[in-house]
Amino acid sequence: MPPRPSDAAQLEKYADDLVRVYKSEKQKRKELEAANQQLVKFADDLNKTILELKSAYQELQESYLDTIHRLALAAEYKDEDTGDHIFRMSRYSALIAEKLGLSDKEVQNIRYASPMHDIGKIGIPDSILMKPGKLTDEEFDQMKTHTTIGATILADSKAEILQLAQQIAISHHEKWNGRGYPQGLAGDTIPLAARIVGLTDVFDALTSKRPYKDPFPVEVALDIIKKERGQHFDPDIVDVFFENIDEILKIKEEVGSAEDASLADFTRSERDQAGGGT
Ligand SMILES: [Fe+2]
Repeated sequence: MPPRPSDAAQLEKYADDLVRVYKSEKQKRKELEAANQQLVKFADDLNKTILELKSAYQELQESYLDTIHRLALAAEYKDEDTGDHIFRMSRYSALIAEKLGLSDKEVQNIRYASPMHDIGKIGIPDSILMKPGKLTDEEFDQMKTHTTIGATILADSKAEILQLAQQIAISHHEKWNGRGYPQGLAGDTIPLAARIVGLTDVFDALTSKRPYKDPFPVEVALDIIKKERGQHFDPDIVDVFFENIDEILKIKEEVGSAEDASLADFTRSERDQAGGGT
């Protein structure tokens, strides 16, 4: 039986509706696809921006460390023009900090802050700094002010590394028994980083050539440090130093041949050895 005219009109309306729905769905799919492509592009752009930011941050971090290194070199220049002393100091101090169980961040901060321990030598006259013989009492008093001059140079920084560097600069000649300078602090009232640097500085000074002395043999230097356990030096730090003496001596061997490197180069090579990272 043929459809009635009213059924035919209804069917035609359904067919029209279906076409409309189909077209509208097709349009929506297109829009969705376009939105999707837009999102993929945004994600790509975001990734690129993050990579660029990371690279800019890394570059900034490296310039910052390089600047710190050059500042430390300026202070050491008259004493020792290769800068080996501050490289060794940095690595000895970071090693001891790590073995004492400090966090990675604290170890890194000590690594970068320790080279600035003698920054205040900039303010000491050459006639005292480079004097080949023994200093008079008066000259020695003036030499001692490199701690407070350093602290003044490094004061009021917002950067954590420079704040730590200031603590180290002012306290690295304090002694565990309270007979150091400039404040006569004793025991653990001396900041830990300064106690670490106090020991690594003496060890490196004893085993290095200076304008006023030839290097001591390592055994003699180690003997002096042992005798000063609990006197000049924090006994726990002396113990950690001796427990890791092989690694300390390895650093001593290695740094002599790294004259043209900078702290940032050290960071880079350590990071690369550790398998990358940002
Ligand atoms: Fe010093």
